[in-house]
Amino acid sequence: MNNIFDSHAHYNDEQFDIDRDSLLASLPEAGIVGIINCGTDTASSFASLEMAEKYPFVYAACGYHPESALEFYEAGLVDIEKMLSHPKCVAVGEIGLEYHYDFVPKDVQKYVFEKHLELAVKYNMPVIVHDREAHADTMDLLKKYKPKGVLHCYSGSTEMAKEVLKLGMYIGLGGAVTFKNAVKPVEVAEMIPLDRLLLETDCPYMAPVPMRGKRNNSEYISYIAEKIAMIREIEPDDLLSITAENTKRLFGIK
Ligand code: NI
Repeated sequence: MNNIFDSHAHYNDEQFDIDRDSLLASLPEAGIVGIINCGTDTASSFASLEMAEKYPFVYAACGYHPESALEFYEAGLVDIEKMLSHPKCVAVGEIGLEYHYDFVPKDVQKYVFEKHLELAVKYNMPVIVHDREAHADTMDLLKKYKPKGVLHCYSGSTEMAKEVLKLGMYIGLGGAVTFKNAVKPVEVAEMIPLDRLLLETDCPYMAPVPMRGKRNNSEYISYIAEKIAMIREIEPDDLLSITAENTKRLFGIK
């Protein structure tokens, strides 16, 4: 397949230490035209920028993931703000709220999320939002700041999806849509306007069926595209072209 744009990856993860460079170098031949690598703290955001400098098809998102929110301090915010001016930084992310693993207090998570939303609005940059079991608080803050951006690995209802679309935001679907017990992601794949859909891996996590449980990588987006294309009764290649264009439009990539 061609025109695979992976809108959400973590190639700085240690699971890629063994073959990161050979794997990344092989991806264009496998049809990958773009990757947005998401930072989760200062070190991984910086690593994303370094990767983006090395590989023309890699772009970076910089920010603090809610699970790293306790490590966030005002100096971290200064670091991220500086990184946003890098020519290959295309988004503020991965940011948001994680209430499934709630070892970081909710008020700390919300504080750190809001600090990033302020930056996104200040620099008119899209956000890449993580929302796990935190739908109400996530929507409240998105309605307050009205950033452009994407809800990645979308797990909410179709009703919430309509609100997300009303805000002008995009929805990212990945491996979960292929899982046997998938309900909500499939319903969302059925209803979402195709010009608001992004595809993603969240690799090394969330590998789609039939690779579930293995280390994920951008090539496996082909399985996600096949599943959603079947649901929408279109050709997988057409879905890949449309979603690659969506990703470029949202993140201002030529
Ligand atoms: Ni992620």
